[in-house]
Amino acid sequence: MKCEGKIALVTGCTSGIGKATMYKLLEEGADVYMLVRNLKRGKKLAEATEEKYPGKVSGVLYFECDKLETIESSIKEAYEDAGRIDIFINNAIGGASAAKDNLTVTETSHETCMGLMESILGVSAECARVVIPLMIAGGGGSIVNVSSSTGVQPDVSRTYYGVAKAAVNMLTQQIAVQYGRQGIRCNAVLPGFTVSKATEKAMPKEFKEAWLKHTLIRRLGTPQDQANAIVFLASDEASWITGHLMEVCGGYGLAANMYGDVVEPPKV
Ligand SMILES: NC(=O)c1ccc[n+]([C@@H]2O[C@H](COP(=O)([O-])OP(=O)(O)OC[C@H]3O[C@@H](n4cnc5c(N)ncnc54)[C@H](O)[C@@H]3O)[C@@H](O)[C@H]2O)c1
Repeated sequence: MKCEGKIALVTGCTSGIGKATMYKLLEEGADVYMLVRNLKRGKKLAEATEEKYPGKVSGVLYFECDKLETIESSIKEAYEDAGRIDIFINNAIGGASAAKDNLTVTETSHETCMGLMESILGVSAECARVVIPLMIAGGGGSIVNVSSSTGVQPDVSRTYYGVAKAAVNMLTQQIAVQYGRQGIRCNAVLPGFTVSKATEKAMPKEFKEAWLKHTLIRRLGTPQDQANAIVFLASDEASWITGHLMEVCGGYGLAANMYGDVVEPPKV
């Protein structure tokens, strides 16, 4: 088991990528603290893990991206309870309301721009500010930021989601550079279109079809695809990997545009 004996914290793990990551960490032997916005839902989910992973969810703690003080309180509570933090998965983002008019550069208000920067970059930065010294106190640790392929691939809309995720990518590398010698590794997983509550709600059918046309492995991603990469980077199997931005997107955007528009894949 890749994460035997590790203390792991996952933010936003009651659905989607966070939930799949939590399960993968349990499967790999970690003791997990769930940092969640909805305590009732979090506790119900923790109970559901009991039969297969008895005692392995060590705590369900209140974490709300839009209330910055809960980031510090939940991380510190987990640390005080466990005595150290080995793995931190920065998955949740806030600012659902700010996302509504996140359109093109000229259509997006200053408030929306700053709101998204706060709820994506600001949350990642605050998690890092709090967790890094605690990890160093325990001899080091591994942080995985859940970023997005839109952080490296400009989009026709949703401008500041991509800009904020690009900032998370740079933050990932800043952390890797600044704290590597103190035993901190920091990597990012950049998901492509992955089926989850968020994408079901936000992405129209046309977007999905256009996206698939330019994706080499012709299917949408699953939360499990992302969890596999996240937990690999978090684990000691990746102990010589840091500052890495790993796109997990079925090869979306790798080929020239003609791949999706005019060229049929070769028949073998
Ligand atoms: N699904 C995709 O296609 C995709 C693509 C690129 C990046 N991502 C990134 O993956 C991460 C997870 O997204 P997902 O698709 O699994 O979404 P999701 O909606 O399925 O899950 C999001 C989780 O975050 C929690 N959450 C939402 N708002 C919160 C808040 N204000 N405070 C605390 N927790 C909150 C939710 O309760 C839920 O557990 C996000 O960082 C997202 O930007 C997803």
